[in-house]
Amino acid sequence: VSLKPYNTFGLPAAAVHLVRITSDADVRQVVDHPELGKAPKFILGGGSNVILTRDMPELVLKIEVPGLRVVAERDDATIVEAGAGVAWHSLVAWTLDQGLPGLENMALIPGTVGASPVQNVGAYGLEVKDRLESLDTVDLVTGRTVTLWPDQCAFGYRDSVFKRALAGKCVITRVRFRLPKPWQPVLGYLDLERKMAETGNHAPDARTIFDWVCSIRSAKLPDPAVIGNVGSFFKNPVVTAEQCRDIIARDPNIVHYPMPDGSFKLAAGWMIDACGWKGKTIGHAGVYEKQALVLVNRGGAVGSEVQTLARAIQESVYGRFGIRLEAEPLMV
Ligand code: EPU
Repeated sequence: VSLKPYNTFGLPAAAVHLVRITSDADVRQVVDHPELGKAPKFILGGGSNVILTRDMPELVLKIEVPGLRVVAERDDATIVEAGAGVAWHSLVAWTLDQGLPGLENMALIPGTVGASPVQNVGAYGLEVKDRLESLDTVDLVTGRTVTLWPDQCAFGYRDSVFKRALAGKCVITRVRFRLPKPWQPVLGYLDLERKMAETGNHAPDARTIFDWVCSIRSAKLPDPAVIGNVGSFFKNPVVTAEQCRDIIARDPNIVHYPMPDGSFKLAAGWMIDACGWKGKTIGHAGVYEKQALVLVNRGGAVGSEVQTLARAIQESVYGRFGIRLEAEPLMV
C-alpha cells in the first residue's frame, strides 16, 4: 500500500500491511489476531507530523474513527467528543457552527483529532492541553479501553506521554474537549493584536478570531493539499536567561519570548531566516519562502532529502547561535 496520499509531506513510502481502524472493536480485532496481534505496529493519523524515509515493515494502523457530538452540558463548560479520525479543522469549524466557541485560535492546524494530544498541538496562545477534558485509548496488548485525564498525559510544549512512555503502546480513539462557559477570547498573540489594530475591532467574537487565524495562517503557511509540508519543522528552543542574554549581545534582533519560569523561548523561524535559508532548496526539499520554520516538498521529494536539508539547517543554526534545533515531526 502506498503511503504517499497518507502523509502531508507527500513522501513516497510503502506499507506491507495497512488496517483501517474505525472503532475500539477494530483495534481489539487486531490485538486478538494470531499474527497481527504480535506484529510491531505504527499508528498513523493524518500523517501531518511524520517524515517517512523508508518503507514500513510494521503493521500500519490508519486511524479513521468518526463522530462529532456534544456529550455533556455543565455549568462551567460544554463537553464535546470527537472521533480520533476526524480532521482537526472540521472539529474546530463544527464547534463554532454549533455556537460552541473555545477552539477558534487553533483553526486550520493540519492533522486529525487523535493526533492532537500526541504532540499537544497549539497556536496563537492556546494548546490542546488547555481544552482537553479526557480521551479514550485502546491498549495494544490487552485490547482494553482506558480513559485518560489531562494530568495523566504529561503535556509539555509539543510533547506528551504518547510520544514517550505510551509511544506505540495504545491507540487514541476518541477525545473530549472542554469548552469553558462563559467564553473568553485569547488575544495575547502578536499576530492577533495586529489584526485588532488593523480592523479597529478590539472585542472580536469567536467567529472573527477564527477568520483572523485562518487568514494569518494562509498568508504564511503552505496548504498541505497544494504544497507538501508538516507545519513547523523544528520546535522553538527554550534557553536560560543567561544564554538568551549572550545571544542578544551578538544578535540584538533575535525574536524571544519570556516564559513563566524565567527561561526564554527563541523563534527558530527567525534564526533559520537569519542564516539565509528562506527559499533555499536541497534536492526536491526546500525552505518555505514565507516562513523559514516550514520545510516543503518542491515536488517529488524523498525522505532522505528532507533529512539532509534539516541537518544542514541544524548545522548552520548551531554554528551561528550555538543552539541545537530539535525536529518536531517524527522521523521514521
Ligand atoms: N520569523 C522570521 N522569519 C521567518 C519565520 C518567523 O523572522 O521566516 C519570526 C516572525 O516574524 C515572528 C517569530 O519569528 O516574530 C515567530 O514566528 P510565528 O509567529 O510565525 O510563529 P512560530 O514561532 O514560527 C509557532 C508554532 C506554530 C504556530 C505559531 C502561532 C512552533 C514550533 N510553531 O510558530 O505551530 O502556528 O507559533 O502560534 O511552536 C506547528 O507546530 O506546526 C505550527 C505551525
